[in-house]
Amino acid sequence: MPTYSQTYRASVDDPERFWLGAAAAIDWDSAPRRALDDSNAPFYRWFPDGQLNTCVNAVDRHVAAGRGDQAALIYDSAMTGVQRTYTYAELQERVARFAGVLVAQGVTRGDRVVIYLPMIPEAVVAMLACARIGAIHSVVFGGFAAKELAARITDAAPKLVITTSGGLEPGRTIEYLPIVASALEIAGTQGIAAVIVKNRPQIPGTAQDFAGHDIPWLDWDELTAAAEPADPVPVAATDPLYILYTSGTTGKPKGVVRDNGGHAVALEWSMRHIYDIGPGQVMWTASDVGWVVGHSYIVYGPLLVGATTVLYEGKPVGTPDAGAFWRVINDHGVQALFTAPTALRAIRKVDPESTELDKYDISTLDNLFVAGERLDPNTYDWISSVLHRPVIDHWWQTETGWPVCANPRGIEHLPIKPGSPSVPVPGYRLLVLDDQGVPAPTGEEGNIVLALPLPPGTLTTLWHDDDRYVRSYLSAYDGYYLTGDSGYIDAEGYVYVLGRSDDVINVAGHRLSTGGIEAVLAGHPAVAECAVIGVHDELKGQRPSGYVVLKAGADITPDELRGELVQKVRSEIGAVASLQEVTVVAALPKTRSGKILRKTMRQIVAGEEFSTPSTIEDPAVLETLAETIGRGRE
Ligand code: COA
Ligand code: AMP
Repeated sequence: MPTYSQTYRASVDDPERFWLGAAAAIDWDSAPRRALDDSNAPFYRWFPDGQLNTCVNAVDRHVAAGRGDQAALIYDSAMTGVQRTYTYAELQERVARFAGVLVAQGVTRGDRVVIYLPMIPEAVVAMLACARIGAIHSVVFGGFAAKELAARITDAAPKLVITTSGGLEPGRTIEYLPIVASALEIAGTQGIAAVIVKNRPQIPGTAQDFAGHDIPWLDWDELTAAAEPADPVPVAATDPLYILYTSGTTGKPKGVVRDNGGHAVALEWSMRHIYDIGPGQVMWTASDVGWVVGHSYIVYGPLLVGATTVLYEGKPVGTPDAGAFWRVINDHGVQALFTAPTALRAIRKVDPESTELDKYDISTLDNLFVAGERLDPNTYDWISSVLHRPVIDHWWQTETGWPVCANPRGIEHLPIKPGSPSVPVPGYRLLVLDDQGVPAPTGEEGNIVLALPLPPGTLTTLWHDDDRYVRSYLSAYDGYYLTGDSGYIDAEGYVYVLGRSDDVINVAGHRLSTGGIEAVLAGHPAVAECAVIGVHDELKGQRPSGYVVLKAGADITPDELRGELVQKVRSEIGAVASLQEVTVVAALPKTRSGKILRKTMRQIVAGEEFSTPSTIEDPAVLETLAETIGRGRE
C-alpha cells in the first residue's frame, strides 16, 4: 500500500495520471482520455471528453453487479419512529419512476429543479432522478424561510419545484407549503411548470390546497403511480450535476456549480481513501441533504461506492434523548459516522458521563469524522475518551465539495493532532499566504489558499456568474483559490484552521452570512445602521450578535426592537440564523471611508486586547462601544 506521502506526491507530480487512474473506478458511457482541460483557465474542466451518468454510477451499476438486494438507503426517523430500508433494486425502481415523472413534466437535460425537502427518502430519490435525466438539482435547506427560498428560485430559474407538506422539528411541525407559496409570490412563477408535493400524513397540507394558484400543484404519489420509469441519459462529464447555494459575505447566496464527472471521480476516491468505506459497509452522515455534507456524504459518496447510507431525521439530543446517535449506530451497524462538533457538544451537555452509551452496542464503529466548524481540543478529548475510537477532524467547504485536509484513513493512519484537521488531501496544493501573497513562515497565521487548478469535484464556477466566481475566489492572489479561512501549517505539515477571515459565520454547523442578517436588520424602519458579528458560543461554536443604531426620533424601546428584529430574521432567513442578541448603540466604529470595523468589534466583544486602527473616523465611538459592551458583559 502506498503511504500518504507517496500518494500525495503522485497526485501533485502527475495529476493527469493520478486522476485518470481514479476515473477507472467510475462507469463511463465514453471513458475520458484526458483528465484536465486547462485551455480556458481559470475555468478548468475535468475529464473534458468523458460521458457518464451519475445516477447509473450511484445506483444502477450496483444492481447490474448483482447487489440489488443489498441495502442502499436506511431511513431512520427519530421524529416519527419509522425505520425503512431500501435496497439498491428498490432505490433504482423509485428513482427511475420519479425520473419518469420529471420527464412527463417536461424536464430535460440542463433544466433546473429546486428541491425543498426535509430528511425524507424522497429527497434522495428526487436528487438521483434529476441526475438520471441530466437535469440540474438545487436543494434548498428546509430551515430556510420563504425569502431565502425565493432568492434561490430566482437565481436557478427552475422548471419544477419539489416539496412536501412539511418537516418535523422537536415540539413543532414546519408547514412547507405556505413557505413555498410565499417564495413563489416573491420570485414569480415564470418558467415553472409545476410544484410537486410529497404529502406527509403527520403534517397538514396537500397539493390540492393550492389548486387555485397560477401553476399546478401536483401530488408526488399520484404522479409516481402513473409514471413510466425513465432510462438514464449520458451527459458530458463537464455538465452540471447540481447547484448548491451557500452564504457569501453579502446577502446574495452564491450558487456553487458541481460537474458530473469530476464529482463522481473525486467522491468515489474519497470514500475509499479518506473514509475507508467500500461496498456493503455502512456510513452515516448526521447532517442534512440541504448542505454540502449531505450532498456528498449522505447521498452521492456512499452510493457511488455501493455502500449503505443512513438518512437520519432527528437531532443528537431530545429525539428522544442523548443516546440517539449511539442507538442509530447500534441499530444499523454503522462503521463510519460523520457529524459536526456542535452535535457532540450538545450530547456532552446533556450526558457528560455518557451513560446513554452503555445502553448500546457500537462495536461496528471504526471512525468518527467531524467537520463543519473547528473541532476544539476540549470536545475532541471528551469524545475520544468516550468512544475509544479515532476521531478524525477534517476540513472542507461547500465550494470544494469534498475534504481539503484530512487524516486519510484508507491510505495511512497518520498520528492525530487535536485541533488540526491533519494534512492536505492528495490533489490539493495548500499554502498559507500573508496579505502580500508571501508564504507565511511555519506556524504563522495567514490566509489559507489552494493552488490552481483545484482537483476534480471542486466548484467549476458560480451559477451564471463567472465574474463573481473570479472576484470572490481567484482575484486575491493570482493563481490561487482563496478559501476564506485563516490558519497555519506546523513543522510536520499539519494544517490548523482557525476561523473565517471574512464575514461568514458558522452557527451550529450552519453557514450564514453576517451581511445577510444585516440586510434584514437594516430593513426595520427604526434602524439607521447596523452590524452583525459572530461571537463565541459554547454549544453552537458561534452565534450572531447584532448592533444597531436607531434612526433619530425612533419611538421604540430596546426590548421591543430586539423582539421585532429577532422575529424578522426568523421569518426572512429562518430559525437557523438563531439571532437572539441585539444591542442598541449610539454609533458604529468606522474607518474614514465608511467601512464598519467589524474585526475590532469582534475583539471588543470577545474581551480581547484591541488597538485603535489608524484609519478610524472617530476614536471616541470605539471607546463608547467598548464601555457599552463591557457593561453588557457584567
Ligand atoms: N427546518 C426548520 N427549522 C429548522 C431546521 C429545519 N430543517 N433545522 C433547524 N431548524 C430550527 C430549529 O428548530 C431551531 O428552531 P427554534 O429556534 O425555534 O428552536 C432553530 O432552527 C435553530 O436550530 P439549530 O441550529 O439546529 O439549534 P438547536 O438548538 O435546535 O439544536 C444542535 C442544536 C447542536 C442539536 C443542532 O444544531 C445540530 O444537530 N447541529 C448539527 C448541525 C449539522 O449537522 N450541520 C451540518 C454541517 S456538518
Ligand atoms: P460549509 O461551506 O457550510 O461547509 O462551511 C465551510 C466552512 O466551515 C469552512 O470555510 C470553515 O470555516 C468551516 N469548517 C468546516 N470544517 C471545518 C473544520 N474541520 N475545522 C475548522 N473549520 C471548519
